[in-house]
Amino acid sequence: MRTQVGIIGAGPAGLLLSRLLTLQGVDNVVLENRSREYVEARIRAGILEQHTVDTLTDAGIGDRLHRQGMEHHGIHLQYPGTRHTLDFPALCGRTVWVYGQTEVTKDLIKAQLAGGPPLLFEVSDVVPEDVDTDSPRIRFTDAEGRRQVLECDVVAGTDGFHGVSRPVVQQAAGGRVWERTYPYAWLGILADATPSTDELIYAWHPEGFALYSMRSPTVSRLYLQVDPSDRIEHWSDDRIWDNLATRLALDGWDVSTGPVTEKSILPMRSFVSAPMRRGRLFLAGDAAHIVPPTGAKGLNLAIADVTLLATALVRLLQEKQTDLVDSYSDRALARVWRCTHFSWWMTSMLHRAGDDFDAQLQLSQLRRVCSSEPAARELAENYTGLPLDR
Ligand code: FAD
Ligand code: DHB
Repeated sequence: MRTQVGIIGAGPAGLLLSRLLTLQGVDNVVLENRSREYVEARIRAGILEQHTVDTLTDAGIGDRLHRQGMEHHGIHLQYPGTRHTLDFPALCGRTVWVYGQTEVTKDLIKAQLAGGPPLLFEVSDVVPEDVDTDSPRIRFTDAEGRRQVLECDVVAGTDGFHGVSRPVVQQAAGGRVWERTYPYAWLGILADATPSTDELIYAWHPEGFALYSMRSPTVSRLYLQVDPSDRIEHWSDDRIWDNLATRLALDGWDVSTGPVTEKSILPMRSFVSAPMRRGRLFLAGDAAHIVPPTGAKGLNLAIADVTLLATALVRLLQEKQTDLVDSYSDRALARVWRCTHFSWWMTSMLHRAGDDFDAQLQLSQLRRVCSSEPAARELAENYTGLPLDR
């Protein structure tokens, strides 16, 4: 088998990269080790930045997003007794959209299977080889158990945090990682409950952070800060709703409840791996970096990476120019570190840890964001997504 770009991983990064390359006439093949059903059911992020919406729309897969997604004009920041609204259009002229990552993935897979390039599910033993040459290859076993070799001009490692691509890049001289683990995790639920808030609520509370988000006019998505060693079996639905009611409490307002359809505990970490390239192997998305979810950046950063990468690969493969692939890692990492800082800052401001001195610092920072237009604008610009360096 031969193609121009062999893409490892059919998450949002790999699928969108395939789409962008195909639109530019670059052949590619996507290899995914899970089944289509598994990939489409994985519940993850829910907030799309303006540039993500624009990229998906320009790539011709924004129809359902524009019909079913919900444009949001701000967020509520809350601490006991205060719920303050940040108005994004007024602060920075941009908005965000609520549209689940699962829906983005379904839209991309549907478009790809309707006449797009090959997308092979349930492959195994995936190994990128000879990435320091101009003719790398990917060895893998297909769903029928046959050993296969995919000869390529370029390999894209979009195989997430636990994939096989990052270790290959890190084995070369000069590889480096930076990591921060946090002393808390998120317990997330999906519930068949009409959201009782217009905008998302990010709430600081002495008992821990809570976030009120949503997926549709009838489905709510809510999160609670919990201990990272906690187990989901210890959290009955009643205990979860009680904690949400306490941490999100505001006079005259209630959290609306309903049947919980999914619940899980998510670890939180910051992680950056550099460089994002070794020879003809390029990393994008969670394969190269992880952010804690508080700033809603993970998915958006993966989309920003592949937008840069697609342009660089088209220039390499069609115009035989190496300038954009040579600058890809540095340009991508500049955005990665900005988002890493923003996600760390939002996380540190909103989650309870440390002593009462730390709590007073957090409250002081929250009051500053809620009372100073420049401070609020800084949050709004980062949250809605800084412009892409194309
Ligand atoms: P992924 O979505 O991880 O896709 C990688 C793909 O590669 C997967 O389909 C995987 O099966 C496949 N793969 C892995 N190894 C191989 C292999 N060896 N061979 C072939 N295929 C392989 N972000 C937010 O902004 N907000 C959130 O609320 C949020 N919640 C999250 C909850 C969880 C549990 C996780 C894990 C992440 C969450 N994120 C969230 C982060 C966000 O979902 C990711 O940043 C985003 O999925 C990154 O996309 P990606 O395509 O780079 O990686
Ligand atoms: C969601 C996740 C986030 O990390 C966030 O900051 C906002 C919303 C969500 O899953 O809806």
